[in-house]
Amino acid sequence: MNTYSAIVIFYFSGTGNSKKVAEWFSEVAIKKNMICNIYDISKTEIHSIEPISNNSLIVFISPVHGFNYPKITLRFIKNFPSGKNKVVLMNTRAGMKIGSIITPGITGIAFIISSILLKSKGYKIAGQIPFDMPSNWISIHPALNEKTVRFIHQENFDRVKKHSDKILDGKKDFLALRDLIQDILIAPISLGYFFIGRNVFAKSFYASYKCDNCGICINQCPVKAIKTIKGHPYWTFNCESCMKCMNSCPKRAIETAHGLFVFLAFLILRISTVIITPFLYYRDINGSIEFILINLLGIGFLFLFYYLQHLILKKSVARKLITYTSLTYYKFWGRYKSIPDFKWKKI
Ligand SMILES: Cc1cc2nc3c(=O)[nH]c(=O)nc-3n(C[C@H](O)[C@H](O)[C@H](O)COP(=O)(O)O)c2cc1C
Ligand code: SF4
Ligand code: SF4
Repeated sequence: MNTYSAIVIFYFSGTGNSKKVAEWFSEVAIKKNMICNIYDISKTEIHSIEPISNNSLIVFISPVHGFNYPKITLRFIKNFPSGKNKVVLMNTRAGMKIGSIITPGITGIAFIISSILLKSKGYKIAGQIPFDMPSNWISIHPALNEKTVRFIHQENFDRVKKHSDKILDGKKDFLALRDLIQDILIAPISLGYFFIGRNVFAKSFYASYKCDNCGICINQCPVKAIKTIKGHPYWTFNCESCMKCMNSCPKRAIETAHGLFVFLAFLILRISTVIITPFLYYRDINGSIEFILINLLGIGFLFLFYYLQHLILKKSVARKLITYTSLTYYKFWGRYKSIPDFKWKKI
């Protein structure tokens, strides 16, 4: 007799890693003759979810963004109806390979916040399990090569199988507790990323001259964060930096504006120290309010400069300058998408 009457998995995924983990988990459940339903959070309205029986296991799987679950996942969990089911939280983090070892990513407060939210709704947390899938954060590092990606997928498939077996046999699995101290220590950075960093990264994308306005990025964005301004894709603050658009553009036209970003960061810092800080000092405004004001102004400036960048991208000199100082433009940087199982699975 099965421990659970059914398994219901909710996942969010930018570049396919979390989707893969959801599929691998469901493979194990199906082999144990369990009914398993998988929902993509970005395409699921909470009120449209079929009632879940008390004996079903609910699983949430999502990438970690800035040491927390992304806003779309947290909002989904926050709005999730109350219940008494057992819940397992999983995430996929930035795995890298050194020799035959996969270095772990950092979960931060993802499990802590979502466990508190779910427990306050009556759920019982039965597991918190991170998986170190290939890092997809190619705004800040080049994409991993395919051999490494294949290795990391294979290793994680084995890990998912092992942990799914344990969970589906009715046991608890709190693998994440081994990172608890590190996760708590990093909490201030998680909050900084959630309130400020996330918005900054959203404004690092632009569509280069290679864009043919096919509209794929606009249609596929899970949070509808890209709109068209002056006939060209424009990234709004809604962007989760999930990397889906950048890694799916058929023309490889979406770039991170590294050069321009360094220039803007320098400019905003100068404006802050030369004009804003002396002004606040003169008005006797205290340190933490000053910090918040400077950050808000920084984001305001970023928005303004980003809009200007969008306009000048049409001019040939500016376009070349911005494009050639974007590291993502160069071939070696690459793009990342989770690979299909046949590329690594031994039959
Ligand atoms: C904006 C952004 C922030 C990230 N922050 C973290 C992080 O804080 N810790 C971590 O381990 N991995 C981090 N990563 C890596 C991803 O969580 C990881 O590659 C994940 O498996 C991607 O899953 P997906 O393909 O389902 O979107 C980040 C990636 C992005 C794009
Ligand atoms: S997917 Fe690429 S080519 Fe198509 S509109 Fe977006 S940026 Fe342009
Ligand atoms: S704009 Fe791109 S990176 Fe941002 S949420 Fe949409 S698909 Fe993800």
